Amino acid sequence: MTNKTPPSIIALDGPAASGKSTLGRTLADALGYLFFDTGVMYRAVAWMALQRDMNLQDEAAITELAEKAQIDIRPPSKPDGRSCDVTLGGRDVTWDMRNAEVDANVSVISAYAGVRKALSAQQRRIGLRGKVVMVGRDIGTVVLPEADLKIYLDASPQERARRRYDELIARGEKADYEDILKRVVERDRIDSTRAVAPLRPAPDAVVINSDELTAEQVFDRVIALCK
Ligand code: DC
Repeated sequence: MTNKTPPSIIALDGPAASGKSTLGRTLADALGYLFFDTGVMYRAVAWMALQRDMNLQDEAAITELAEKAQIDIRPPSKPDGRSCDVTLGGRDVTWDMRNAEVDANVSVISAYAGVRKALSAQQRRIGLRGKVVMVGRDIGTVVLPEADLKIYLDASPQERARRRYDELIARGEKADYEDILKRVVERDRIDSTRAVAPLRPAPDAVVINSDELTAEQVFDRVIALCK
């Protein structure tokens, strides 16, 4: 290890279930940084809209919802696998937003320019304070293009679907691998073809494919880049 100062703003992007949250959390712990998973903000808006039986195609109404949403993100209060607490109006909704209905609909609302503008402004404000590992789809390209280190973590759709399946089974939920794979592919398609801030690596990002790597091996590679 050298005495070089570790990068202060670390952007960690990649597709659904590529292992970004696990890596982001361990990296933030190791460096003593804030861990901020920006996907939870998009999930919170999708969850609220579904709860209210809103028409998800109504871009203006969903944008207004995102602008007014009182989403709060805090360090995890329970050791139940969560990476942070997510509250809406004081109510803990951390796991409510991790269901198949939100999974299937969140890409639609996160493609709306107004929703992205409202949420990325909040994310940028937090990120600019530094000492942060920020996880998402567009952190290195749009939210914090000045990040000191940009990682793009990738994995094949089959491997990502298998990880999601294992996660659900471990939590005692029902899961169907083929169905999960179909949804992963569909979310990739929407996330990477949307007009605003599509999912793609920043030109200066370090791309890591985790198909053949354990979480520990991915961590070792990234921490080496920080030191
Ligand atoms: O990482 P996740 O699966 O919790 O993300 C949920 C959704 O939010 C996903 O469909 C993509 C979207 N998202 C985004 O568009 N930009 C981000 N910075 C983070 C997530």
